[in-house]
Amino acid sequence: MNEIPRGTVQQQTFYELVGGEDTFRRLVHVFYQGVAADPELRAMYPEEDLGPAEDRLRLFLMQYWGGPRTYSEERGHPRLRMRHAPFAVDRAAHDAWLRHMRAAVDELALEPAHEQQLWDYLVYAAASMVNTPG
Ligand code: HEM
Repeated sequence: MNEIPRGTVQQQTFYELVGGEDTFRRLVHVFYQGVAADPELRAMYPEEDLGPAEDRLRLFLMQYWGGPRTYSEERGHPRLRMRHAPFAVDRAAHDAWLRHMRAAVDELALEPAHEQQLWDYLVYAAASMVNTPG
């Protein structure tokens, strides 16, 4: 019969709505291609191989939007401001980070409402990561 029981709301997470892991994989991959080609921003990333950083950001974003909780299983509580404390995130770093993220979001060609929701979050989160004046 396939009836939905009364009182049951079938809910999809934002993660599922925008295409799941594949979407976040593409987003973060294009973002890191931008970082790799930006000498000033690239200099902030301590590891020679950007692959592990790409994995961490992808897993964080997947978890944030309702996907698998692998990030916290591997890394613990996000505490992102604290994790950025070793890096001087100033206005220029903030602007560069968001510029590469904007290009990556555009590549996804999401529905406008989803794109706006994702972008608003990224703008807000980037502002909250700034820890250095100038
Ligand atoms: C505002 C400009 C930002 C700059 C310049 C910046 C820079 C960095 C750098 C240099 C790292 C270390 C790379 C690594 O080893 O993982 C890092 C890590 C990370 N960043 Fe950012 N970041 C910014 C904003 C953000 C935002 C807005 C988010 C979330 C929406 C974010 C999420 C993360 C995550 C999840 C990690 C890995 C944390 C861990 O598990 O160790 N970052 N970031």
